[in-house]
Amino acid sequence: MLKKLEKYPYRLLHPKLVALITSRDEKGNPNVCTVAWIMPVSIEPPLITVALQKKHKTTDNIIKTKEFIANIPKENQLEIVKKCGSKSGWEIDKIKEYSIKTEGAKRIETPKISGSAGYIECELYSYFEAGDHYLFNGKILIAEVEDEYFEEMWINPPILYHFGKDVYGRVNRI
Ligand SMILES: Cc1cc2nc3c(=O)[nH]c(=O)nc-3n(C[C@H](O)[C@H](O)[C@H](O)COP(=O)(O)O)c2cc1C
Repeated sequence: MLKKLEKYPYRLLHPKLVALITSRDEKGNPNVCTVAWIMPVSIEPPLITVALQKKHKTTDNIIKTKEFIANIPKENQLEIVKKCGSKSGWEIDKIKEYSIKTEGAKRIETPKISGSAGYIECELYSYFEAGDHYLFNGKILIAEVEDEYFEEMWINPPILYHFGKDVYGRVNRI
């Protein structure tokens, strides 16, 4: 028997890979924001898209400085994922308040989050309005991954998937 979803129909498309988006404002202050609505959209040029609510600090940062990094967190970074997904950079300095360790990136000035499983450094290619979100197309400048978890594709990686609410999991190959 089928049941009609009254709320959250998009959760049929979850679980989705969790990423931590780092960005910076015009003064160079960095910020971290948790996302699950992120996906590849073009092979040539290599583009990924992240859907961000218009009100987010990250949205403002990316429009102004035209760059961001998709950091792919590991299970042991779940607390950062939860905290950076519930407080806005408009209110607090999340990197300082949550003692998030960052380091310089290779191709852009925005820092990356130390200890992540992988990193995709992007420059803004284009962006579009989509309801209460913007879709940011980022051109991949460089992508890096911890080699023990990746051989052409992920090998049972300790990366996080978001089901909804406060429920997370991981994937295994079959
Ligand atoms: C697991 C998880 C996934 C999320 N995915 C998204 C997303 O894909 N897009 C989005 O706009 N917000 C998403 N959020 C909400 C933002 O992370 C949250 O509102 C954050 O405080 C915005 O931070 P900022 O204002 O510093 O950019 C998600 C939150 C969590 C916990």
